[in-house]
Amino acid sequence: MSIAPVSKSEVELFRELEPVVEKEVDRHVATAEEWFPHEYVPYSDGRTYAGVLGGEGWEPGDSKVTPESREALLVNLLTEDNLPGYHFALRSVFGQEGAYGYWTNRWTAEEDRHGIVIRDYLTVTRAIDPVALERARMAHLQVGYAMPYGADLLRGATYVAFQELATRVSHRNTGKASGDPLCERMMARVAKDENLHMIFYRNFIGAAFEADPSQTLRAVKDVVTTFEMPGNTIDGFLRKSVAIANAGIYDLRLHHDEVVQPILRKWGVFELTGLDAEAEQARDELAAFLDGLDQAATRFEDRRAERQARREARRG
Ligand SMILES: [Fe+2]
Ligand SMILES: [Fe+2]
Repeated sequence: MSIAPVSKSEVELFRELEPVVEKEVDRHVATAEEWFPHEYVPYSDGRTYAGVLGGEGWEPGDSKVTPESREALLVNLLTEDNLPGYHFALRSVFGQEGAYGYWTNRWTAEEDRHGIVIRDYLTVTRAIDPVALERARMAHLQVGYAMPYGADLLRGATYVAFQELATRVSHRNTGKASGDPLCERMMARVAKDENLHMIFYRNFIGAAFEADPSQTLRAVKDVVTTFEMPGNTIDGFLRKSVAIANAGIYDLRLHHDEVVQPILRKWGVFELTGLDAEAEQARDELAAFLDGLDQAATRFEDRRAERQARREARRG
């Protein structure tokens, strides 16, 4: 008779994984390079704005970045701006003691740079309307942020692993689509940070798979099948996300191929053995979800290509 594996309690897992957090913090601090937001912004290109100092108001013609990148720059900056909400969420999951607390604060300080550098770049280069941006920021932060999985350790850390990689892809492609080499360089720098963050959370969940594979798999299935981008509460997000997908900056294909699958592969989710019955069922559900996601991505790509072809035919 085999004995059914028993799920570890969250407190047990938290303690068991603390040495992993220590190791990952050390690795991160040794790998991350110091960088300065001010070096990425062409301040001498700036002009005083209308208002208190009586400069010139923003005009759409001021913006030198491509229209398709503008929505993405706005969404990406608002997402970074919502850092107080994410800090609170991560602290609810990791607490503020020891290596967990150290990581939460270090991560927050690094994330803060992203909002600083993107805002300075956009304001100095007049890439987007600063009044609309400020109003959107106020509205977005007023909504606040609630981690969809509450303070759940495994679901919280799994969510951020995918979310960091998603923002990496989105920042990188936004920079590429901007048509401005300065913007591209800045966004590539930010994307590099997001990649290191992703590695931290991915390795944490990798260790959780070793500590309790069945429980971790159930958490991963829950997160992958319900994943939403962190900026999904931004006013007009649906319309903006369609524009971003049409521009190939972030779409279902990228989500499936460059975000979800690489992380699942790294964890060896489909090679795991010794799972309990509930986890086996979760894995089947995960596989079915991924098939559906892949098909939806292909449908979207086909429709996008058709629209593109029609536009080109109209142009003659
Ligand atoms: Fe960020
Ligand atoms: Fe990040």
